[in-house]
Amino acid sequence: MLNYKNAELLLSDSTAVEDEVAWRSPSNLAIVKYWGKRGVQLPRNPSVSFTLHNAFTNMEIAFQTKPEPSEGIELDFLFEDNPNEKFKQKIQVFLESIVDIFPFLQQLKLNIYSSNSFPHSTGIASSASSMSALALCLCTIEDQLFGTLSNDEQFTQKASYIARLGSGSACRSIYPTMALWGETADFAGSSDEFAVPLSNVHPVFTNFLDDVLIVSKAEKSVSSRAGHNLMNNNVFAPARYEQAKHRITTLLNVIAAGDVETFGKIAEDEALALHGLMMTSDPSYMLMQPNSIAIIQKIRQFRQESKLPLYFSLDAGPNVHLLYPEEVAYQIKPFVDQELAPFCENNFYLQDWVGEGPEEL
Ligand code: PMV
Repeated sequence: MLNYKNAELLLSDSTAVEDEVAWRSPSNLAIVKYWGKRGVQLPRNPSVSFTLHNAFTNMEIAFQTKPEPSEGIELDFLFEDNPNEKFKQKIQVFLESIVDIFPFLQQLKLNIYSSNSFPHSTGIASSASSMSALALCLCTIEDQLFGTLSNDEQFTQKASYIARLGSGSACRSIYPTMALWGETADFAGSSDEFAVPLSNVHPVFTNFLDDVLIVSKAEKSVSSRAGHNLMNNNVFAPARYEQAKHRITTLLNVIAAGDVETFGKIAEDEALALHGLMMTSDPSYMLMQPNSIAIIQKIRQFRQESKLPLYFSLDAGPNVHLLYPEEVAYQIKPFVDQELAPFCENNFYLQDWVGEGPEEL
C-alpha cells in the first residue's frame, strides 16, 4: 500500500506564504462501472472511463499562513459566488481526513472558489470533477511550498490517489481520453489506489461524443455512497465483480482494436448491470425513470433500423448518456433532437465529448 503520510510537509514557524492555485478538471463517464467498495475507498473491481470535456469544475484556492497558529482546517468556501454550507462541510470533513498527508493545511487559511461548467442542478454529478480539481489544487500547493512533486508522474499519481479518497470515480478524471482504475493483470502498473491513463486507445475513441440527456434534474433519492454500501449484502455481488473483471479484459482489447460495436455492447450491458444491482439491493431502489427507459428503447430501435453505432450508458441516476463516434454525428443529431430530447426535462441535453483532461489555470 502507498503511504503518503508525511510529517515533514510543514512550514517553518517563520515562513509566511500567500498565493493561489487554480485547476479546471472534468467529469468522467465509466464504461465498465465501479460499484461496490472495500476498505478506504478501494474498488471491488477495476473500471474504465472516458474523460469528458464540457462538464468540468473550475476551482481556485487562495491560501495564506494563519495569523495565529491554530488546530484544524480554516476554510471559506464559495460555490458560484455564493456560500454553500453543504459543499463547505463536505470539503472541510475531507480536508480534515487528509491532514496527515498534507499537514501544512493546518497552517493555512484557505479560500476556495468553485464553479461548474454545467448549469446548477442539472442532475449531472459533479463529485468527480470537483474532487479531482480539489486534489490537483492541493498537490500544486504542496509542490509550490515544498517542491516535492515536480515529477509529472508522481504529481498525477498523488493527485489521483487524493481524488480517490474524495470520491472514488474522481481518481479517473486526472487523465486525458480514457483512464483505468483498479488492479488488473491485463494492464501493467494498474492499481486500486489510483487511476492510470489508458495507453493504446484506438483513434476512433479519441473523438467519441457523449450527449447527456437530462431526464430529471432532481437530486437522487439514494446517494452513491449508500448504493456502494448496499453491495455488501447484495447476493449478486460476487458474480458482479467477476463479470466486471472479465469485461475489463475484453474492453481493453476492444479499445485498442477500435471495435465500436463490442465497446457499445459493453457500455450498455454495464449500465443495465449497475441499475440491476440497485433494483436487487435490499432495500431495493430504482434511479431510472420511465423516460430513461423510453429513451433506451428508442435508441435500440433506431440502431436496428439505421445500423448506426449509437449506444447508451447510465450513471447512478436517470440521465442517459449517448455514445457515438464523431463521424456519424450528422446522422445522429436529428434523431436526438426530434425523438429523444422530448423525453428530457425542458428538452435539455448537454453535448459533450472525450476530453484532454485537467488544465491548470
Ligand atoms: O465515485 P462514486 O463513489 O460517486 O461512485 C460512482 C459510481 C458510478 O458513477 C455509478 C460508476 C463509476 O465507475 O463512475
